[in-house]
Amino acid sequence: MQKLRIYGPTRLQGTIPVSGAKNAALPVLAACLLADAEVELHNVPSVQDIRTMLRLLEHLGVENERLGDAVILRPTGRANPDEAPYELVKTMRASVLVLGPLLARRGHARVSLPGGCAIGVRPIDLHLTALEALGAKVTIEHGYVEARADRLQGCRHRFLKPTVGGTENLLMAASMARGTTVLENCAREPEIVDLARMLTAMGAVIEGAGEETIVIEGQDRLGGATHAIIPDRIQDGTYLIGAALTRGDVTVDGARSADLAPLLAKLDEIGAQVEVGDDHIRVRNDGVLKPRSIVTEPFPGFPTDLQAQYMTLMTQAEGVSTVSETVFENRFQHVPELVRMGADIRIDGTYARIHGPAALTGTSVMATDLRASACLVLAGLVARGETTVHRIYHLDRGYEQMESKLQMLGGRVERID
Ligand code: UD1
Repeated sequence: MQKLRIYGPTRLQGTIPVSGAKNAALPVLAACLLADAEVELHNVPSVQDIRTMLRLLEHLGVENERLGDAVILRPTGRANPDEAPYELVKTMRASVLVLGPLLARRGHARVSLPGGCAIGVRPIDLHLTALEALGAKVTIEHGYVEARADRLQGCRHRFLKPTVGGTENLLMAASMARGTTVLENCAREPEIVDLARMLTAMGAVIEGAGEETIVIEGQDRLGGATHAIIPDRIQDGTYLIGAALTRGDVTVDGARSADLAPLLAKLDEIGAQVEVGDDHIRVRNDGVLKPRSIVTEPFPGFPTDLQAQYMTLMTQAEGVSTVSETVFENRFQHVPELVRMGADIRIDGTYARIHGPAALTGTSVMATDLRASACLVLAGLVARGETTVHRIYHLDRGYEQMESKLQMLGGRVERID
């Protein structure tokens, strides 16, 4: 199994390009199940989760061809199963995103229940209730969700709470339902806006993506499209946190400041210099970091996917800060590993208290999930000596060549078998 070895401390300095957003590309790829013609996607990141989704699409009858950062997808026209098997869903929860489009286009879908994952229980009940509101008959048997509907029927539905995947599944399903669907209390993440742009390019009629209420006029057919995936705000945010953490100077070319507003506001508050240009973000820090607390929330709040990385940053601030995780119930698994590196962090449920600054030292640490892996790599950059991060297959699910980007910034990081 591969590991990352980091030699610290280092100062990150330089410019890196953005990568396409994994969390935007996954629903956009699922939407290709709705297209009756070729789709051309650009800025598709080369990460493990995307490879898993492409395999799932092949299994479902959409073939693909990769050309650099572009992927061309074509319906094969062959009779294919309408089923997402356990073997694929268990490695990637986002496989449930094929439920909505399969059901809307083919009238039937069978998708393995994703089950729990390291960061929490993560049910899909809100997806299912919303599909039922559109007229689907949903049953759960033998660990699979089975949904049927001759033709989904537009309706008004209010999500009990905002769900990113649920909003995306319903956007896709309603785009081919009969009549108008009004979705209320929707998630407002930039990835949802990107999916709506893609569906619109395919011929869907959608209003309000990025707001709480989205109105969708269902279509009888959706065609091909050409679409460029938005930049990955979580990857960009990770490197910008790295700049503040290592008292460095990092520019991310192509980054979108609106998508990163809550992080940039915090970086400014803690004393880093944030420069926002039309097509880049630069973060510098040459002084003392002030402690500032965060509460994770759905967009436009502070993203849960940057919580672990921000916590690493706060281990170097002068004083006490707190992190309150409100989105997932078990997202502090990085804390014991940070503590082993010398951090002073106390947890009380979904609330953490960090006393800084801590003199971190390198050791062997275990990654437990995607974003936790990134926070341990960041910790390795400021720790004295050698840090080895094990189980980096988590990292490879969502970070495109992290060691190469860190090397471009002067980080001493290597991948070892
Ligand atoms: C997406 C992101 C993930 C990010 C999360 C929150 C992708 C592929 N993944 O995950 O990186 O951390 O948004 O920003 O885009 N919930 C229910 N029932 C449901 C659905 C969700 O109770 O049917 C709960 C979840 O357990 C969680 C909260 O709602 O506590 C938010 O989850 P959701 O927004 O759906 O996250 P994902 O789409 O799974």
